[in-house]
Amino acid sequence: MRVLLFCLAGLLVCLQTADSHSLPQKDYDTDSSKHDITNPLNDISGNNSSSDPDNSRGMFNFGSTTFLVRYVTRDDNKVDKSIYAHKNGKAKKVLEDGIAVFDDFPKSRAYLGNKDGIYVYDTETEKLEKYGNLSDNVIGIVKENRSDDLYILTEDHVVYKVIEEGTKKVKVNEAEHAERIALDWDDNLYYIGANDQPYVVASDGAKKIEGLPANPTSVFISRPPIKIKHGAWFMSGKQPYIIYPNASSEPYVFNDQEKLEYEKRIRDLEVIFSQFNNQIEE
Ligand SMILES: *[C@@H]1O[C@H](CO)[C@@H](O)[C@H](O)[C@H]1NC(C)=O
Ligand SMILES: *[C@@H]1O[C@H](CO)[C@@H](O)[C@H](O)[C@H]1NC(C)=O
Ligand SMILES: *[C@@H]1O[C@H](CO)[C@@H](O)[C@H](O)[C@H]1NC(C)=O
Ligand SMILES: *[C@@H]1O[C@H](CO)[C@@H](O)[C@H](O)[C@H]1NC(C)=O
Ligand SMILES: *[C@@H]1O[C@H](CO)[C@@H](O)[C@H](O)[C@H]1NC(C)=O
Repeated sequence: MRVLLFCLAGLLVCLQTADSHSLPQKDYDTDSSKHDITNPLNDISGNNSSSDPDNSRGMFNFGSTTFLVRYVTRDDNKVDKSIYAHKNGKAKKVLEDGIAVFDDFPKSRAYLGNKDGIYVYDTETEKLEKYGNLSDNVIGIVKENRSDDLYILTEDHVVYKVIEEGTKKVKVNEAEHAERIALDWDDNLYYIGANDQPYVVASDGAKKIEGLPANPTSVFISRPPIKIKHGAWFMSGKQPYIIYPNASSEPYVFNDQEKLEYEKRIRDLEVIFSQFNNQIEE
């Protein structure tokens, strides 16, 4: 069985941005599976993750559960994809045939998606339940901050708003061939299109975000760290940007404190990766 480990581009970028002694490259080449940490901005360690004593929340959200997606390519080239939850040093398979995760931290709740629809996982009780009655093949999922409504991205790259507790979906016609979706804290919807460029969905259609590299690489989009009140987070290569609902953008520069927090995060991630790899051997 030959398999590749490929860590989420955004995560690698974050690691490299933050710390020169990031995860050793050879690990990626020799390992036998592919792992995503589903959102590099969800902090991964539980207690005292911030290095700022005056601000216990620090730059990043953090919960005690980290979700990872593991890809294993089998001999027949079929790829097995499963979502794992890593908590208190232990990794547990939560959902098969799935890659979509939205961690609703600080609530003890995560929304997961797989080929059969949407699930809710309680990170405290560690219980998984089907959410609603939709059966789409979900590859991306996000939840509004101000409501319980969700957006899902399905395997055919269509975005739907999911309302009425998962019993109804409404197609977001403005989003064309989305590769990834994200909301900001104000619940503006963004997506990365087939051209790797981010768009914001406005009432009068989708607008391409301006001021970004013409040929972005290793793109990633997510809700920004909690301290960034407006706009979403976009990464191209090693450079993070804040992208705004008015379709403008600006590069984001870490201050010294944020760099420290990132470095702490990377060390935590290294621990999680090694624990995960040790435990999830086939
Ligand atoms: C945080 O620390 C407290 C007290 O040491 C402990 O009870 C709790 O389980 C820890 N939480 C996490 C998420 O590790
Ligand atoms: C975490 O922070 C709290 C409050 O600052 C402190 O009392 C506690 O000892 C710290 N725990 C660890 C494990 O560092
Ligand atoms: C889901 O449930 C709602 C409300 O009970 C119902 O109207 C709808 O038809 C169901 N949808 C599917 C796909 O079963
Ligand atoms: C996000 O939701 C929380 C809790 O409902 C609320 O306190 C906060 O103001 C919201 N954030 C924004 C930017 O609306
Ligand atoms: C777009 O929004 C950002 C953030 O609110 C603001 O700084 C910028 O001036 C706005 N740009 C335009 C052209 O309105």
